[in-house]
Amino acid sequence: MAYQLDALGRARGCNACAKLRRTMGKTFDIGLEVLAAGRSARSELALGLSHGSTGRGTFFLETFGCQMNEHDSEKVAGVLLARGYRQVETPDAASVILYNTCSIREKAAQKVFSRLGEFREKQHEGKIIGVLGCVAQQEGEGIFKRAPWVSLVCGSASYRKLPELLTELENGNHRVTGLETDTDETFETEVTRRDHPWRAYLTIIEGCDKACSYCVVPYTRGPERSRSSEAILRDVRQVADAGYTEVQLLGQTVNSYADPMARRMRFSELLLAVADVAGIRRVRFTTSHPKDFTQDIVDAIDAEPRLCEHVHLPVQSGSNRVLKEMQRTYTRPQYLEKIGMIRASKRPIAITTDIIVGFPGETDADFEETLSLLDEVRYDGIFSFKYSPRPNTRALSMRDAISEEEKSRRLAVLQDRQREIQIANNKSQIGESFEVLVSGKSRREGQWSGYTSSHKVMNFTSQAPALLGTYVQVTATDATPNSLQGEHVA
Ligand code: 5AD
Ligand code: SF4
Repeated sequence: MAYQLDALGRARGCNACAKLRRTMGKTFDIGLEVLAAGRSARSELALGLSHGSTGRGTFFLETFGCQMNEHDSEKVAGVLLARGYRQVETPDAASVILYNTCSIREKAAQKVFSRLGEFREKQHEGKIIGVLGCVAQQEGEGIFKRAPWVSLVCGSASYRKLPELLTELENGNHRVTGLETDTDETFETEVTRRDHPWRAYLTIIEGCDKACSYCVVPYTRGPERSRSSEAILRDVRQVADAGYTEVQLLGQTVNSYADPMARRMRFSELLLAVADVAGIRRVRFTTSHPKDFTQDIVDAIDAEPRLCEHVHLPVQSGSNRVLKEMQRTYTRPQYLEKIGMIRASKRPIAITTDIIVGFPGETDADFEETLSLLDEVRYDGIFSFKYSPRPNTRALSMRDAISEEEKSRRLAVLQDRQREIQIANNKSQIGESFEVLVSGKSRREGQWSGYTSSHKVMNFTSQAPALLGTYVQVTATDATPNSLQGEHVA
């Protein structure tokens, strides 16, 4: 694909170097400083983590799953750092070991239990082991039975209780839980430790009020709660002051945002307000739900170049019948209307999607509909998954399960078809010039990489000495299904 596979879910930041970026009143961000700045990762870590340290202990935090989880972990780390904990890079060196978990598909959830199993032997070393996130919410106190060496089980809707839970642990309580989902509160932190050097993630809406029949998220993350536009804009000003030029607004259904403040800022107005903050050059947002995707969002992108030319609009299936069974709340023609709206924009907005193959009862004809949708939309990238039955979902009890073998076959066919589309899309961009935010440097001299506004990976050559974190104009000279190649035009 033209998008790195982490474009949606897996923004793997290097956890190695954290730095105290700035203190603003009571809130501050600790961010990853560029290795290119010539600083030692470890000394940065020491600098960041010694701030406010009261010698309480050390923590290791591993994150599985989506960008929301990655960002939740940044906030959880902030809570611990503010309390005087020091972050370490291995579980062995830590007094508190935390796993922020994902249960969107079965494999992800299994991984967590195998990781926890590695600590069976270590339970006598006095370490505190905690499970956070979706598996915590889904399995609840059952985790204590399966892995009795675990002391803390806390779902994302209860993160605001983390300081209390930590106090209980510090006072010697061996079993603490935060499992409520019935909340109208969001997770606000005084400190957020930022792992990503160039992009600041900001959650604007938590939870999900949709009820897709295959999905655990409404169950594990609770109902929709939007943060106030005031708090969001304060965060944006803060990250901009700390030197970030790109922000990505996050939510399971980011465009269902409903400002709780009296001013009731619409999502599109919020986008424009974020783009207007001094220092911000790029604004991204994910994930949009088709049902709530409205013309004013496209108008905002057309009007404001700082809003990136990219919309991630999961379709899940091209078959009306399957969409209905999935409870996606739109039909294929309604989805295609939204695509038409985006394609009618003045700017060339890239469109990506998520697709599930092998949903219960998906026939060959249904699958063909999904393939024909690919041909019709000609997505710039897709994330495709084999359907995975999940606990507490309506689809779990549906009949006509598709065999794993058939799911794999359909996935391969889908990905082959999409590959052809992407290579053609990307080749058609050869000769065009793109603004690229430089985020990587190859070991090979003069080779760099970064992202275009449309979130395509651009690998390019340049003789300039220090480009990381800067914006450069690059002309595309070649293309693969997953990236563009280019030359920096100085
Ligand atoms: N099985 C397979 N894929 C799933 N997704 C969500 N739930 C499931 C499931 N049970 C996919 C959807 C969603 C993406 C984040 O994960 O495509 O958009
Ligand atoms: Fe899950 Fe559907 Fe909500 Fe997305 S919109 S998080 S797929 S329930």
